Amino acid sequence: GQPLRVYDPGYMNTICCTSKISYIDGDKGILEYRGIPIEELAEKSTFVEVAYLLINGELPSKSQLQEWDEKLRKHTFIHTDASQMMKSFRYDAHPMGMLISTLAAISTFHPEVNPALAGEGVYKNQDIVNKQIYRILGSLPTIASNSFRNRIGREHNMPHENMSYVENFLYMLDKLNEKEYKPHPKITRALEVLFILHAEHELNCSTAFVRHLSSSGVDIYTAIAGAAGALYGPKHGGANEAVLRMLEEIGDLKNIPQFIKDVKDRKKLLMGFGHRVYKNYDPRAKIVKQIAYQVFEITGKEPLIEIAIELEKIALSDPYFIQRKLYPNVDFYSGVIYRALGFPTDMFPVLFTIPRVAGWLAHWKEYLNDKENNIVRPRQNYIGPEKRNYLPVEQRK
Ligand code: SDX
Repeated sequence: GQPLRVYDPGYMNTICCTSKISYIDGDKGILEYRGIPIEELAEKSTFVEVAYLLINGELPSKSQLQEWDEKLRKHTFIHTDASQMMKSFRYDAHPMGMLISTLAAISTFHPEVNPALAGEGVYKNQDIVNKQIYRILGSLPTIASNSFRNRIGREHNMPHENMSYVENFLYMLDKLNEKEYKPHPKITRALEVLFILHAEHELNCSTAFVRHLSSSGVDIYTAIAGAAGALYGPKHGGANEAVLRMLEEIGDLKNIPQFIKDVKDRKKLLMGFGHRVYKNYDPRAKIVKQIAYQVFEITGKEPLIEIAIELEKIALSDPYFIQRKLYPNVDFYSGVIYRALGFPTDMFPVLFTIPRVAGWLAHWKEYLNDKENNIVRPRQNYIGPEKRNYLPVEQRK
């Protein structure tokens, strides 16, 4: 097949696996899913089609896409016990905490696919692997919308059987819970593109975690719950929530110079800026910024965008940020859009998790089919004390 694009080891501080799923060139600001530029997918594709591409390696034919879409729709429902369990969370529980706990709990619902119970070979069966993919990808929007509805003290909405994946998610969130509710097509498309942009990103912290956990042979629900835990962190998927809090804290254009000074004095981080791999403008951030204005046509302009635009302009012309190759990443503008769409800030990492599950499942499936799928066990560089003898407590200072 295609020669694998091997990174320059000098450029990447760690390389732990080869993969065919996505390609990033951090210096040039390039991102491709299975060789297709993210810009083309954002313009022409849908999230369900991109999920198929990531997980199966090729864009689906018409009949493959239809079957895939039907399988996902069939699996949007979650067990009533899972829904009941979600209702037992405190009213002010963080939606990400609810989502992670529910994913882990669902791992106990299917003992027949738990390698610890069903035996290690369970995932050699492609039908079982695919069934887990349909269940997890299909039910994620339902789990996510349930955690939102818990937060606002409302009943959980059942999925709508003949709406698209993203439309159905927006339908289940709808506060008014009207049967005939139909989300605005421009809002649906904006969220669809955001889902495409967030679906996959090579070996980021949470995706590396899926590979790490899967390598122990644990079931995929537990691995996905663990990865969602990594994505929850403010340095990773929690960054768009942290960006909003930062913009709210700045509050006014006149406070930007003091904030920039605090960053330079290392008292604060410029959230939504910087990246482990991109040392250029994150190609996703450019598209997210365009989407913001499309959404504002419907929702009205979110005032915080002005602070974000001015902050970016100052940072991109300031030597401190230029020398450190700090540019906006995917999280810098996404939070302002979610805010304009009426999502509370603690839902932002949940909105990152739904699409990223497609990338996690793609890496899980690739890992399962990898003949070298040994347990991931990095070594450390020991810098502790030299060998010494035990000291009885009487002799200790
Ligand atoms: C995501 O990996 C992925 O692909 C992740 C992701 C995905 O799709 O999965 O792209 C999603 O997580 C995007 C990143 C979201 N996080 C944030 O926006 C939080 C703010 N960013 C920082 O936490 C930071 O930039 C990291 C964690 C993202 C990267 O940290 P690094 O690897 O330490 O950055 P670096 O080595 O390039 O830092 C170089 C310098 C350092 O200063 P010096 O010690 O050299 O003087 O830049 C500084 C850093 O301290 N720096 C920042 C900064 N990020 C780095 N200074 C101020 N504000 C920042 N945001």
